[in-house]
Amino acid sequence: MNQASPDRHSPSTSSQVGVLFVCLGNICRSPTAEGIFQHLVNINQLSDAIFVDSAGTGSWHVGRPPDARSQRVALQRGYDISQLRARQVAVSDFAKFDYILALDGDNLASLEKIKPRHYSGHLGLLLPFAPHINRREVPDPYSGDEKDFQLVVDLIQEAATGLLNHIRARL
Ligand code: 4NP
Repeated sequence: MNQASPDRHSPSTSSQVGVLFVCLGNICRSPTAEGIFQHLVNINQLSDAIFVDSAGTGSWHVGRPPDARSQRVALQRGYDISQLRARQVAVSDFAKFDYILALDGDNLASLEKIKPRHYSGHLGLLLPFAPHINRREVPDPYSGDEKDFQLVVDLIQEAATGLLNHIRARL
C-alpha cells in the first residue's frame, strides 16, 4: 500500500532491506501484515534498516483504504492502518524488494508468473516464518465475519515476529 503522504513505496537506500506483503485486494490481509510488521520494525528501532510495503495482485481496490473491518480489528490490537492505500503489485517491485511474501498460495502463484528470471530475493509465503503454527496460508476474510478478521491478525502476528528475527539475524 502507499502511505497517503508522503509517497513511499521504495526503499530509501539500497542498503535497506525491503519487505513487501502481497494478497489479492490489498485491503484486508496484506495491509494488516504491513501494519503489524511496521509496528514491530518501529519498536525495535529498525526503520532505517527495513522498509515495509504491501500490494495486491488484483486491481479492483487500488487507491482505497483498508477494509473497515480490517481497520477496526487492527486498531483493537494497537495497529492503525487507516492511512494505507491499496496498490497493485508490479514487476518493478522485484527490483525493489528483498522479500516478497504472499499471504496465500494463489497469490504466490500469481507472483511466480510475473517474477523476473533473475530475481535473487526471497519469494514465498509469510506463514512459514511461524513454523510452530500448522498453517501455510492466511485465509481470505473478505466474505467472512469478525472472527475471520481476528484470525488474520493472530496468524500474521505470529509470523511477523519470526520474520523480523530472520531478517535481523542477516543485517
Ligand atoms: P485481501 O481480501 O486479498 O486480503 O485484501 C480481499 C479483498 C477483496 C476481494 C477479495 C479478497 N475482492 O474480491 O474484492
